[in-house]
Amino acid sequence: MQSSRDEQATTESNKPETNKSLTSTGQVAYLTRPLHQESVGEIRTLERTSTSLVTLCLWHKTHEKVVVKEPIDKYRSLPAIRNEYAMLGTTLRGGPNIVPFRGGYIGTEYNSYVVTSFVANGSLRDFLLGGSVLTWGAAIQIMDDVRNALAFVHSKNVVHRDIKSANILIDSNLRAYLADFGSARGYNISGAYRSPQDTKMGTPGYRSPEAFESIHYAASDIYSFGIVMLEIASRRNVSKHIEDDVDAEEKWNEAIPNRVSAAISATIPKGIASLILNCCKTSREQRPSEKDILTTLEDCRKTIDLNVKITPRPL
Ligand SMILES: Nc1ncnc2c1ncn2[C@@H]1O[C@H](COP(=O)(O)OP(=O)(O)OP(=O)(O)O)[C@@H](O)[C@H]1O
Ligand SMILES: [Mg+2]
Repeated sequence: MQSSRDEQATTESNKPETNKSLTSTGQVAYLTRPLHQESVGEIRTLERTSTSLVTLCLWHKTHEKVVVKEPIDKYRSLPAIRNEYAMLGTTLRGGPNIVPFRGGYIGTEYNSYVVTSFVANGSLRDFLLGGSVLTWGAAIQIMDDVRNALAFVHSKNVVHRDIKSANILIDSNLRAYLADFGSARGYNISGAYRSPQDTKMGTPGYRSPEAFESIHYAASDIYSFGIVMLEIASRRNVSKHIEDDVDAEEKWNEAIPNRVSAAISATIPKGIASLILNCCKTSREQRPSEKDILTTLEDCRKTIDLNVKITPRPL
């Protein structure tokens, strides 16, 4: 965090629809001015990514733990923080299973930040790779929470463009929240967002064939969500190897679909396995909608033993 900031906090009556465990009823306070060290106390750095510094802080006014995200360079990350501020603070504010927005300020490189509620179990990626117990019941709930967040985001004609396990947060009740809206964009009437220049958006291993071509649809987020569900169902960092060493021309026709299929083990229940494969279809028209995914997850809840624990699939 930067050393010198002005202090101010305002309150606003607001009832976000986010998961109850993270939502205050009644008055919700927001940090809306340049921060000062006296208004928030730094607890520890959570992450220093290639673009931002993410710090866990105690907000003295409300005695809550909040997370402050700041850009680390003005060329790449300042526009992303601006974008995240606009998305979380306006278009997507209070949406279900969206990380709760607690304020922000956009000034200069050294004076811009976004504040969200602290989500106690951190990223889904770290949760899956750690040793915590995960049953099929909890896993299906996490999948459904992300589906619900995506349905909301897409209902606002927004594409997230970087759905991955590291951008999903897990709370102490194992409920999931979609985070990191730095790459999110509104799409046009045809349902597409085309990146300017030839910027391949998204993270290798999670990105769809069309995202690789710099075009993003709601269905492109569904593809990435398929890979996230594969990671949940196998408790493995599957995305890491999906795009490795394959020829760009051919990879979406054979190599990548084959790798996705190969990563599905016999321990993954059939309903979940076919849902993952449908989400990861090369043709975006063949991928399911959030409504279809909900129906499948509801069927899975009836047929799968929800108390069975998911153990990491051996490599
Ligand atoms: N509200 C929060 N509660 C708990 N942990 C958080 C929160 N926000 C972010 N984090 C942690 O910080 C990490 C990075 O946050 P985020 O994805 O927003 O940053 P980023 O710089 O945009 O990431 P990248 O560009 O690498 O995708 C998350 O993966 C998570 O581990
Ligand atoms: Mg991220």
